[in-house]
Amino acid sequence: MIIDGKQYQSIWLDENDRSRVLVIDQRRLPFFFETRELCSVEDIYNAIRDMTVRGAPLIGAAGALGMYLATLEITGRTNVASHLNNAASYLISCRPTAVNLSWAVSKVLESLKGIDDPELLAETAMITALEICETERENCRKIGENGLPLIREISERKGGKPVNILTHCNAGWLACIDYGTITAPIYLAWEKNIPVHVWVDETRPRNQGARLTAWELGKQGVPYTLITDNAGGHLMQKGMVDLVFTGCDRATRKGDIANKIGTYLKALAAFDNNVPFWTLMPSTSIDFTLSDGLTEIMVEERDQEEVTMVEGYHDGEIIPVRICPDETRAGNWGFDITPARLVTGLITEKGICRADEESIGNLFSEKTK
Ligand code: MRU
Repeated sequence: MIIDGKQYQSIWLDENDRSRVLVIDQRRLPFFFETRELCSVEDIYNAIRDMTVRGAPLIGAAGALGMYLATLEITGRTNVASHLNNAASYLISCRPTAVNLSWAVSKVLESLKGIDDPELLAETAMITALEICETERENCRKIGENGLPLIREISERKGGKPVNILTHCNAGWLACIDYGTITAPIYLAWEKNIPVHVWVDETRPRNQGARLTAWELGKQGVPYTLITDNAGGHLMQKGMVDLVFTGCDRATRKGDIANKIGTYLKALAAFDNNVPFWTLMPSTSIDFTLSDGLTEIMVEERDQEEVTMVEGYHDGEIIPVRICPDETRAGNWGFDITPARLVTGLITEKGICRADEESIGNLFSEKTK
């Protein structure tokens, strides 16, 4: 995406020194736009863990490039197979819910099977990791094309009045290398002069909506309004939401969706108010080995401090403040599962399908064989 006149992706390799992975530090946005360089497996692990990088496709890409950095750490004394296997398990252990991470890391590991020469290992890992980045970028572009007709149709039905789209968390270009999943059709609509307006859920506890989605939309000039996480149901009852667009960290082959905590509540409200609830995602977020999301998807539990504290900007600095009594114990589930029956459908790089095993299987028949 173009930010202040310059083209960016949310992860890339330094052109002048291919042993350096560069990322935008998402912990600093929207107050500071800063890049970080990651030069080791450890750096990648920490960046995923501390949310410097986040969002399912991006943590997959970061994990893949982490495997490339692992090949650069090989010396004459390294047991190559165990070094690479350890790096892969270590990277995958960072965040358990998004399947993109294990998928991408395993894909790079697989591409290295049977290679001994360190230079060839590094070359192959780099090519595979960059291919993953490019594929995810292209997936999002296609998701945009496939989602656009839904927005256009509502716009025509409303006689050109703005289409109101509610979104949760951040599934924009920062989370996805480029374009984003939920943002891709929105940007495309905006480019084509279809009036849109986005209701941005702030998305406690980390406020990815307030901090990242609001920043992204603002930079592209797309009209948005920030709302509290609890406002969506009210807006739907008042007819102020035409569509809900959310991302996905892991979908089962039957169409259950793991996404940022609070997504399920939006789906319930959408269902009760006949508002279409679409999940936009690349097929790399579908885990075809799983059938029942509620029992089979592991939901990450995170630090209590994300709930007991909030971060804000004051006097040129990002400041954490406590919002509850000192001794408060907090629960912090990172994701929830929206059952397929509440999902209108999936918008993917291959097209649109219903959230059920048959439709998903038909759209992705090559993956279910
Ligand atoms: O904890 P996060 O910020 O990594 O959670 C991210 C989300 O829930 C996104 O909606 C999801 O990764 C999809 S990104 C296309």
